Amino acid sequence: MTKIYVLRYGHRPERDKRITSHVALVARAFGAHGFILGDIVDEKIMETIRKVEDRWGGKLHVEMGVDSRKYVLNWKKKGGVVVHLTMYGLHIDDVIDEIRSLEKDILVVVGAEKVPPFFYEHADYNVAIGHQPHSEVAALAIFLDRYYQGKELYLSFPNAKLIIVPSPRGKKVITVAKKEEKREKSREETKTK
Ligand SMILES: C[S@@+](CC[C@H](N)C(=O)[O-])C[C@H]1O[C@@H](n2cnc3c(N)ncnc32)[C@H](O)[C@@H]1O
Repeated sequence: MTKIYVLRYGHRPERDKRITSHVALVARAFGAHGFILGDIVDEKIMETIRKVEDRWGGKLHVEMGVDSRKYVLNWKKKGGVVVHLTMYGLHIDDVIDEIRSLEKDILVVVGAEKVPPFFYEHADYNVAIGHQPHSEVAALAIFLDRYYQGKELYLSFPNAKLIIVPSPRGKKVITVAKKEEKREKSREETKTK
């Protein structure tokens, strides 16, 4: 199975705390398998990811503090494809079918502040989600959505403690863990009878 990892480049802990968390959460929710925080370790981001996973399931592969440039080079060496999201790149509509048809593992690079030329030069594809400046969160979400052709919105995570029941109004949530606990308890009670 093709794997997609997301490499977040240029994270500044104070300024980008929320946006980097959102990049990671979009990666998880929209079907990526890994989130790599380049060049820096930020425990708060890790905590956010693990807290969401604890309740809503999934197990994103997470690495932090890796050398972004080495990671890109190594990814390519292992036969993977590097896609850098930038408004200066080729329009997503013109490359997404080709990228999907490669059936290779994909490293999606998104920036924060100015992205150095290295990433433009070493990316196999510089991909624009339209040619206007917007956000790494929006860019990643749309890239993954186009890659998976909308199927990622039906993802469910087997180890979730909470599952939403779609509702026209209000919030309906099933607490799976409680159901399991109850089952376990009644099993225990039956045994002791
Ligand atoms: C807020 S932007 C800053 C970009 C920065 N000014 C530069 O020139 O590299 C942060 C990231 O969002 C992503 N991004 C923003 N707009 C995009 C677009 N239209 N297409 C693809 N990616 C985009 C890119 O990954 C970019 O590095």
